[in-house]
Amino acid sequence: MSRPAPGRATLREMARLAREARERAQAPYSHFKVGAALKTRAGEIVTGCNIENASYGLTMCAERVAVFKAVSEGLNDFDAIAVVADSKRLTPPCGPCRQLLWEYCGDIVVHMLDLKGRSRTLRLAELLPMPFDAGHL
Ligand code: THU
Repeated sequence: MSRPAPGRATLREMARLAREARERAQAPYSHFKVGAALKTRAGEIVTGCNIENASYGLTMCAERVAVFKAVSEGLNDFDAIAVVADSKRLTPPCGPCRQLLWEYCGDIVVHMLDLKGRSRTLRLAELLPMPFDAGHL
């Protein structure tokens, strides 16, 4: 069953926090800064930014940083994530991030924004149809 989506004011606050987190991105190789803000249904918001490495493959996306931070702090029951980047087209979570989000957050709201104020809000199931999960094991 789909859950009620967070209201506009909540999404705005998540967007603000994701934009702040984006400023902390470590992206000297791609110069593509991303910020994320992950919310629990209870209202806690945990941010993340992308963190790159000279060994490129070690790069961690903003979304995954947010999920790992939140889960490692004992948080669960997430209902939305905001993702902010400065790009011509809105930036959706990459494939591995979609898989991780599905595992730990289920069918959450994914609120994508740019710095010009454009946004689009989808559910994760729309971005990751037919997900592989524990039910297949
Ligand atoms: N990146 C994210 O942090 N999240 C996304 O959803 C897409 C990609 C980062 C990874 C890398 O540091 C840079 O953006 C370029 O791919």
